[in-house]
Formats: sequence, structure tokens, C-alpha cells
Amino acid sequence: MTATDFDKLAKIYDAERVSPWNDLYERPNTIKLMGDVNGLTVLDAGCGGGKHSADLLAKGANMHGFDLCEKMLDFAKEMLADQMDFKVASLAEKLPYEDAQFDRVLCALALHYVEDWSTPLSEFHRVLKPGGKVVISTHHPFMDHELAGGEDYFAHTLIEDSWKKPDGTLYVRYWRRPLTQMIDEIKAVGLEIDLIKEPQPVPEAAEKFPEAYKKLTTQPRFIFFLLKKPN
Ligand SMILES: C[S@@+](CC[C@H](N)C(=O)[O-])C[C@H]1O[C@@H](n2cnc3c(N)ncnc32)[C@H](O)[C@@H]1O
Repeated sequence: MTATDFDKLAKIYDAERVSPWNDLYERPNTIKLMGDVNGLTVLDAGCGGGKHSADLLAKGANMHGFDLCEKMLDFAKEMLADQMDFKVASLAEKLPYEDAQFDRVLCALALHYVEDWSTPLSEFHRVLKPGGKVVISTHHPFMDHELAGGEDYFAHTLIEDSWKKPDGTLYVRYWRRPLTQMIDEIKAVGLEIDLIKEPQPVPEAAEKFPEAYKKLTTQPRFIFFLLKKPN
């Protein structure tokens, strides 16, 4: 997808709306995996509207963020421009940061838009200090396998999907790869895998969004990685 495609996402983005998938499942779990970030320098890669950055700033991190889509960045800037630095940049290209600039990199729900993970993963490795960590959340390969018709789990395929949102339907395209390919791509750039998680939503989702809660507690939705750059 291009920056213009993400402009359409920005059009229906509503920072105030609570989403069971994002606010009660994905974000709490990635923030937990980030651990203690107090005083650490953290890059939010594909930061979108900046909600993860806001949580990490509240935990004492020095935040930097980038996104391909300027309209999504506008939401993040509106909330946080006086507290952190934002850039327009692409995960598919060399990043505008120094070698070994960061203690942590977070990439939440953005990597499945990128066909070839070798550039973003080797860039995360480059901009991290030795011993630094990366947290990634992305579509679970099993969920997308079903969406793609369940034919060839091991294929690396482009999926076209539509998301029904309260303000309209959004047509999206993203890449599905099997877990084994994700692991190979991570190891190929020299990052070590500390954890692979299939976590649960937070308990309050049960009461507020019973249908989504049932889905999230019985079917894999996203997959989460904690990676480390060796010392
Ligand atoms: C589903 S949103 C996630 C935003 C944020 N990380 C979150 O979880 O709230 C996906 C984001 O990835 C960004 N994105 C997609 N492809 C990108 C690329 N090649 N480089 C940088 N950002 C990209 C989009 O603009 C969008 O803001």
C-alpha cells in the first residue's frame, strides 16, 4: 500500500474510539513486552496516530517516531509534537537515524504492509545499540491463512481485504507469510528471538466487547515478537 492508501485510513481514524483489537489487546500486550523503558531512547516505527508513543512517554521513554503517511502523523503530532520527534520515512528504505541510536524499537501492526522484511529488520538492527531490543506485533499467519482461503499456508501472498468501520469500509492490502519465513527473516539479519507470544486481550474487554473478546480468546489474531540485538 502507498502513503495515499494510508491517507484513507487516516480519514476514518478516530483517536477517541476504543477498539477491542487495538486498545484492549494489541497495545497493552506490546507495551508489556517493551518492559521498563524509563530513561531509554525508543523508536516507534510506523507509529501511526501515536498511541503507543503516548504510553511509552508516560513510562519515561525518550521517544522518536516515523510513519509513511503524513496524515496519520498529523494525529500523532497533534497529541505529542511538543514531547517527541516525528519523521516521514518508510520501513522499506534506509531509516533517517544514526547507527546504535536506540535502546528499543517498537513496530506495531505495520510490518505486514511490507513485502520484503530484510530492509526494515536490518535497519532495526543497525539503529539499535548492542543488547537493544525490538518488539514487533503483526498479523498472525494463521488468521491470514484462513482469510486467504486456506490453500497454501507456506505461500508468501498479497491479501486484499476490507475492514468495516463505523464511518465506512476500508479496502486494504497486506502481505501474509508463514511463521517459518518470519523466523528466517529475523535470524537472517542477526537478531535473536527472545519470545514469540500469542497473548490474550485484557480482562475488561470481556464486558465491553463480548463478541470480540470471544474471538480474541479462541482464535489467533496477531503475533508478537521480542527480539534482541546481541551484545
Ligand atoms: C494499522 S496502522 C498501525 C499504527 C500504529 N503503529 C498503531 O499500532 O496504532 C499501520 C501504520 O503503518 C504505516 N505504514 C504502512 N506501511 C509503511 C511503511 N512502508 N513505512 C512506514 N510506515 C508504514 C501506516 O501509515 C499506518 O500508520
